[in-house]
Amino acid sequence: MDYKNQVAQAVAAVVPELDEATILSKIEVPKDSTMGDFAFPTFLLAKEHHMAPNQIAATVAEAIDATNFKAVQAAGPYVNFFLNQLTFGTDVLQTVLMNQDFGHNTDGEAGHVTIDMSSPNIAKPMSMGHLRSTVIGNSLAEISKANGYQPIKINHLGDWGTQFGKLMSAYKRWGSEDEVKADPINTLVKYYVRFHEEAKENPALDDEGRAWFKKLEDGDEEARQLWSWFREESLKEFMELYETLDIEFDSFNGEAFYNDKMDGVIDTLKEKGLLIESQGAQVVDLEKYNLNVAMIQRTDGATLYMTRDLAAAIFRKKNYNFVKSLYVVGGEQREHFMQLKAVLKEMGYEWSDDVEHIPFGLITVDGKKLSTRSGRIILLKDVLKDSVDLALQQINEKNPTLGNKELVAHEVGTGAVVFHDLMNERIGNFDFKLEEVVRFEGDTGPYVQYANARAQSILRKAGNPELDMSNLVIDDENVWETEKLLADFGDVVRRAWRDREPSVIAKYALNLSRTFNKYYANSKILAEDEQLNARLALVTAVSQVLTESLRLLGVKAPKEM
Ligand code: ARG
Repeated sequence: MDYKNQVAQAVAAVVPELDEATILSKIEVPKDSTMGDFAFPTFLLAKEHHMAPNQIAATVAEAIDATNFKAVQAAGPYVNFFLNQLTFGTDVLQTVLMNQDFGHNTDGEAGHVTIDMSSPNIAKPMSMGHLRSTVIGNSLAEISKANGYQPIKINHLGDWGTQFGKLMSAYKRWGSEDEVKADPINTLVKYYVRFHEEAKENPALDDEGRAWFKKLEDGDEEARQLWSWFREESLKEFMELYETLDIEFDSFNGEAFYNDKMDGVIDTLKEKGLLIESQGAQVVDLEKYNLNVAMIQRTDGATLYMTRDLAAAIFRKKNYNFVKSLYVVGGEQREHFMQLKAVLKEMGYEWSDDVEHIPFGLITVDGKKLSTRSGRIILLKDVLKDSVDLALQQINEKNPTLGNKELVAHEVGTGAVVFHDLMNERIGNFDFKLEEVVRFEGDTGPYVQYANARAQSILRKAGNPELDMSNLVIDDENVWETEKLLADFGDVVRRAWRDREPSVIAKYALNLSRTFNKYYANSKILAEDEQLNARLALVTAVSQVLTESLRLLGVKAPKEM
């Protein structure tokens, strides 16, 4: 089905001065499809031949053997190729339908890719920002797999730091076990906030908090127990959310996991002469990278976020032998990850080049920024619940007799939030308005799900017949765009991985849905004629590719909605 190659071969046969690979790399897809399906620009040849590109295009077009194409024509400096729609269509449908993994490749050669994702902080609610990391990370994991890699999804929980000392001190003063158990995160946040307020009046509290953290670091029994209990209760709440999204992790090794691996890092830094003292703290100078110093150890000997990330990076290389190590973390931590890479590089780790920060932008809700401090904690749970409610409302209007309504509403509601998050280029900031996200029309997840459900309903109406693969010709102009989009899927999957950009898949899915809906509106798919089988094959192929696109995004594709 590699038509681009066919075009390159045809050109190479008459342009011996260029090798086929060069030609292949120059071939374009014209923006306007009336100009053909592929175009070869002749500028490259103009210099050598001392001829105007237009003239060269005319000569080349004339010389090319056009038997495999519908037409080959010169237009200005381009040689345009028109594919033979009927053979192309048959070829595409066969390729899609006979290959359940259609669109996948093996470029990754089974290399391991660690993906640091989600990574919320214990005793704090998971925010919309953490949602972004979770769903982008999950989708990149699926996309990496489709490109032949083996992803390892790591939840680098924020489960260590001085705030735990404060929390313990607050709990010891005002806490109740039952209260925590009933509503863990909200209750712990409440204690923490109260601690901060009272500490303003009573600075002795801060000392108490520090003392508790010291106890924790020294392995004090009670402190340890409290810590692991807070962690467990918080994790329970996070797990509910991961279940809602149907996202799994390979590891929950958070910051605390690296406690006993920090001395090793600090020793190595010392050995390599990289640690210098600055105002009592131990830092690594990164001036030659144009970066601020990286703080490794505080004046009081406590280690830091950076130190734990150094230990984690080294551990991951040893343990998973990754070919790429991704960190899906908001753009505000850009400097942190540049420093992390730079320190690893200074330590002599060649693989620091494989460490990649995958930043993303901010979500605002109804135009306002989210922040814990200002009290605008948008609870993800609530957003997802509202979204599912809204989906159910729409299903009740559109399809009141649908069985399994609750499940479908769940798949549509959560899918809508996930899809919306992923359809925007990850680096952009975007605003979130629930009513727009859950609409069944426009650029939304439900729109894609609906196109797929419609395809499935056509197949049901036809009685889900066995398809005859030897008869796939659809002699209808309207089907052309859809067939061409199907043929693009493999390129789309590659591009999404190359750019670490799930939005490439989301935009493609929207495009395929729109194109298919247009075809559906203009054609009688179920008409009883000799091309019925071929049209049902097309519908099946569209549904297969839409379902796979959604799967790569972590969105379900209900067969009815
Ligand atoms: N817990 C951090 C936060 O919520 C994110 C951790 C990201 N991962 C990492 N290895 N630093 O901001």
